[in-house]
Amino acid sequence: MLLRLLGLFLALSGSCWCAPQQTCHPGDELLAKCSHISRVYSIGRSTEGRDLLVIEFSNNPGQHDLLEPEVKLIGNMHGNEVLGRELLIYLAQYLCSEYTLGNPRVQTIINTTRVHILASMNPDGYELAAAEGHLLNGWTHGRTNAQNIDLNRNFPDLTSVFYRNRRSRHYRTDHIPIPDGYWFDKVAPETFAVMKWIRSIPFVQSASLHGGELVVSYPFDYSRHPHEEKMFSPTQDERVFKQLARTYADAHATMSDNDTDRCGAIFYRTKGIINGALWYSFPGGMSDFNYLHTNCLEITVELGCDKFPSEVELYPEWKRNKEALLSFIESVHRGIKGVVKDVHGNGIKDATISVKGIRKDITTGGDYWRLLSAGTHIVTATAKGYSRVSKRVHLPHSLNKAGRVDFVLKKMSPPYALGVTFHRADSD
Ligand SMILES: *[C@@H]1O[C@H](CO)[C@@H](O)[C@H](O)[C@H]1NC(C)=O
Ligand SMILES: *[C@@H]1O[C@H](CO)[C@@H](O)[C@H](O)[C@H]1NC(C)=O
Ligand SMILES: [Zn+2]
Repeated sequence: MLLRLLGLFLALSGSCWCAPQQTCHPGDELLAKCSHISRVYSIGRSTEGRDLLVIEFSNNPGQHDLLEPEVKLIGNMHGNEVLGRELLIYLAQYLCSEYTLGNPRVQTIINTTRVHILASMNPDGYELAAAEGHLLNGWTHGRTNAQNIDLNRNFPDLTSVFYRNRRSRHYRTDHIPIPDGYWFDKVAPETFAVMKWIRSIPFVQSASLHGGELVVSYPFDYSRHPHEEKMFSPTQDERVFKQLARTYADAHATMSDNDTDRCGAIFYRTKGIINGALWYSFPGGMSDFNYLHTNCLEITVELGCDKFPSEVELYPEWKRNKEALLSFIESVHRGIKGVVKDVHGNGIKDATISVKGIRKDITTGGDYWRLLSAGTHIVTATAKGYSRVSKRVHLPHSLNKAGRVDFVLKKMSPPYALGVTFHRADSD
């Protein structure tokens, strides 16, 4: 396994020798071959000082293109769950080589989507697990970071904030601020780096790859009932989340099969997907944080029972997951997207997009994406100081790219323009 990884890193990094204790930049050679469509950047460092490296693929690396959605894929958040890390390194190699070979599907993905891959969110935990290797690594050794913090319990628990406030009339399900008290507890540098990253890029959707089961789970991960460990706890976007989870599970070789050998739990009734809290509840997870703090919808993919598969299993696992990973990336082109402008054609920076019946607003930075399931939706754009505009949108089942819905908002005369009164788009 370790040899395999070193081999991969060598393949990725060319002449750069990547001893476990050194920071290195996988991707140097990849970049040389694919420098026009990729970039490697660091979002920070782990507790022991290893770079948290992201490989980005885009036809315009390093830059957000208007109306081009952004996707992130995260592996190895639990350091001993190594398969996600390996699959994401394969994926990066695959995207690079297939683009170069002229594969139209891969070219379309990269020409229309910005894909960010963080293959290892917990490189310190990984080193610990890798030192033991496939045969000796136990169920939890290397799971946490070097401070013994479980990163998937270390994010701000906004789900509790949401549950506390959900009965008040104007509660928010979106962009809930981080409570001050959060900073008094220990925040891992890995968590902090990822939070900063999530806030700095307008991600639309995300997948975090884990191991230990074979299932896709989706938020909320924290139960709406404090004493019920297993309770269905849907978000406002239950339909979209289910669809995202289905996209991965159905495109995976065996995840949705009835006769698939699981690792203990039973998921055949729902064909390989489950609401996180219904499976088991925990606070402080990354997916709940994505949903309640940003526009991004994140699913958790459990890739299989073996957290640390042997080297010979890596390629077969890539084949089992390849279609699922590609389909997941492509599925960001669903729902609607557009720009919100004033009457002079200038983009309005802080507009809000709301959908009737879904109490989760999307914010814009000029352009926006709203993942939606098929059907008819009433979509409203608002911005402080502007009149609101609503549109009825019909999304056919067959649509395989995001429907374009632009809004032009008129400036309102005072006192509204002064911000004395501001009505949020209110859906019920
Ligand atoms: C992707 O973009 C490149 C560069 O503009 C172009 O040469 C290529 O034909 C495009 N591929 C597809 C499938 O759109
Ligand atoms: C799936 O398998 C279980 C257990 O063998 C069985 O009870 C169930 O009826 C099957 N469901 C379907 C949809 O085939
Ligand atoms: Zn995990």
